[in-house]
Amino acid sequence: MKSLLVFTLLLQWHAHATHSAENSTAILMKFLANVNQNLAALYNREVLANWQLEIKGPNDLYALLQSELVSEEIMNYLQSISAQTSKYKRLKIGDSEQQRELAQIPETGYEALSSTDLKLMYIVTTNMGDIYKKTKLCAYHDRRQCNLTLIPAVQNILHNSNDVAEIEYYWLEWRRKTGMAAKQDFVTFVDLYRKAAQLNGFTKPSEFWYKDLEEDSVQAATLIKSFMQRLQPLYQQFHAHVRGQQRKMYGEELIPRGKPFPQNLAEIFIGNAYRRPDPEWFIEFPYPAIGMPNITAGLLRRGLTNAQRVFWNVADYFRSLGMPQIEDTFWTQHARPKADLEEEDMRCWHKAWKFYGIERVNFSYCPIVDEDRFFNMYEALTDVYYYRAYEKQPTLFAEEPFPNFSDALGKMFSMAASSPRYLEKLKILERGVTSNEQRINRLYWQGLRTIFLLPVFYVLDRYRVDVLDGDLNINDNCDYWQLTTDFTGAEPPVNRSNGDFDAPAKLLVEVDDQYTSQIMSTVLQYQFYKHFCHITGQYKPNDPNYPLDLCDLSNQRKIGPLVMQAMSLGSSKSYKDILEIMTNERAISMDGLLAYFQPLYDWLVEQNRIDGVEIGWEPTTKCWEDSDVE
Ligand SMILES: *[C@@H]1O[C@H](CO)[C@@H](O)[C@H](O)[C@H]1NC(C)=O
Ligand SMILES: *[C@@H]1O[C@H](CO)[C@@H](O)[C@H](O)[C@H]1NC(C)=O
Ligand SMILES: *[C@@H]1O[C@H](CO)[C@@H](O)[C@H](O)[C@H]1NC(C)=O
Ligand SMILES: *[C@@H]1O[C@H](CO)[C@@H](O)[C@H](O)[C@H]1NC(C)=O
Ligand SMILES: *[C@@H]1O[C@H](CO)[C@@H](O)[C@H](O)[C@H]1NC(C)=O
Ligand SMILES: *[C@@H]1O[C@H](CO)[C@@H](O)[C@H](O)[C@H]1NC(C)=O
Ligand SMILES: *[C@@H]1O[C@H](CO)[C@@H](O)[C@H](O)[C@H]1NC(C)=O
Repeated sequence: MKSLLVFTLLLQWHAHATHSAENSTAILMKFLANVNQNLAALYNREVLANWQLEIKGPNDLYALLQSELVSEEIMNYLQSISAQTSKYKRLKIGDSEQQRELAQIPETGYEALSSTDLKLMYIVTTNMGDIYKKTKLCAYHDRRQCNLTLIPAVQNILHNSNDVAEIEYYWLEWRRKTGMAAKQDFVTFVDLYRKAAQLNGFTKPSEFWYKDLEEDSVQAATLIKSFMQRLQPLYQQFHAHVRGQQRKMYGEELIPRGKPFPQNLAEIFIGNAYRRPDPEWFIEFPYPAIGMPNITAGLLRRGLTNAQRVFWNVADYFRSLGMPQIEDTFWTQHARPKADLEEEDMRCWHKAWKFYGIERVNFSYCPIVDEDRFFNMYEALTDVYYYRAYEKQPTLFAEEPFPNFSDALGKMFSMAASSPRYLEKLKILERGVTSNEQRINRLYWQGLRTIFLLPVFYVLDRYRVDVLDGDLNINDNCDYWQLTTDFTGAEPPVNRSNGDFDAPAKLLVEVDDQYTSQIMSTVLQYQFYKHFCHITGQYKPNDPNYPLDLCDLSNQRKIGPLVMQAMSLGSSKSYKDILEIMTNERAISMDGLLAYFQPLYDWLVEQNRIDGVEIGWEPTTKCWEDSDVE
């Protein structure tokens, strides 16, 4: 009898629970439908305003005002629903898909701060940005001329200077004027960030920092640290080679054996790999007589003389992968040239524009035809396909699974298209570009632009996360240098102390920028490439006829459907699920990047042996904890 009563009670309770769960599911469903609809309307207005700015130029006042107004409305809207959102999250109601949708509602988390703190946060981040943008340096050769901005004025001077004293002067002046000026704001920022993390219920500021990556802070930190460890043998060989080259240029006194290289000189050396259009004027290639093929000339020779022709040529490439054909009317109906920009600003790129809740993608293009714009077309078209693939998802899922994920795919396709085998087939390049010498030159140039960046990104994020969690003190400038030296093999050109503040200004400006996701994206790019090349037989490990760097994916019809399926999920699944669909692996792995650069690694090992250069570096002795500031 008693047990029956209990049973009945249980049943009733259960029925009640189910019922109220159904109820809350219904409530949640309505809430989410509303959010999706409201966000779509707001986002579309924002996209439209920015699109207008892109095609009419930044002086379109109406679009400018619209863009600012809508951004504020979006903030206001998100703030207005944030209490409800967190309540639903806390109650854990709804099914797993709904919970995922809830989790995708954007939040900066700063809204949790009091209005005084929020204002302060705004002030310090703006200040730090202004210091970086507005600081002017006095000229080395004329200290009364004090109107030099870092970019482009100082940058141009440095690129053309062989004077070590001049290079050092600007390095020091820049740090003197920006570092100490930003330090107090950075201290305030760290305090407020910790507060915001706590108010949002995170146990550590780093958990808050990594919230968009769907990893806890320990997992994320462990993952990227493991990347650095796997990169180390290649990095050390490359570092040794660059240091040897610098020693030839600057002498043994400035570049002593076994020490880290001076950061200011290394930045110039590596920075030369970014100098377009003619890196061979600035870089000494492994095979200097052979240099790099002129792809721009090849494009023009092939008749790819305007952006429209390039677009359709690239669209053809994607079709050959088994992706849907882009309709003939796309160009006339949706593509417009980007408005002219000032000369100085070479930021002229192709770009796809997505809208929400309606099936439309617009396209703005840069009218210039050259190598960079050609490969950029592959990235922009990847976005066109990506946006179209997930346009049926609710607004909250119409995103990439983590920031910079789509870049990995776009850059993978652009890398595949830059394969000499493919360019030869397209008749953009003459035969012979797949020779060993050509391959090593290309890998060397790509390597300068990729391999040296990863440890720099790592140190940037590691430093910020360690400071936020209190594992590193802002006043311990030497700890910053130790981290920098350990991972990048660079040290300051002159003695520094804890009285200085050298964490780079760029880091302080882009306070919300996630270098971790950029590292993940870069590594992922090579992982996709290796996998796709492997399953299509274009890369065969240990077969010299099928090395990864020559892999050509064109006409591999297996690829398209696989990529489309993954892209159509948007952010409705975690990146690990999406990765599994594409690569059968659930974890991001360095294998692809290392396989890609294996020939460069072999060349570096041999060349370093021939040159008799030393590998690795001692810790820096150029930072002294004693502060010369009171
Ligand atoms: C929730 O359930 C109760 C009890 O069954 C019902 O009366 C009420 O109408 C439901 N509310 C909603 C919003 O569905
Ligand atoms: C956003 O909210 C603030 C404070 O409630 C209000 O003053 C402001 O006008 C709102 N902005 C817009 C664009 O609606
Ligand atoms: C800086 O000032 C000098 C002379 O004072 C002038 O010749 C130069 O054009 C100025 N540069 C810029 C970027 O304003
Ligand atoms: C490559 O070709 C383009 C177009 O013909 C030309 O403008 C450019 O100077 C060439 N670059 C080099 C390094 O020869
Ligand atoms: C771009 O998208 C907007 C909004 O959907 C539309 O009004 C406009 O006509 C599009 N522009 C082009 C060139 O397709
Ligand atoms: C830098 O510090 C080292 C170690 O204390 C010292 O030997 C050296 O003279 C210092 N260099 C300069 C330029 O002060
Ligand atoms: C990641 O995204 C940011 C912002 O869109 C962009 O500036 C950066 O170049 C991207 N990084 C990579 C590695 O694609």
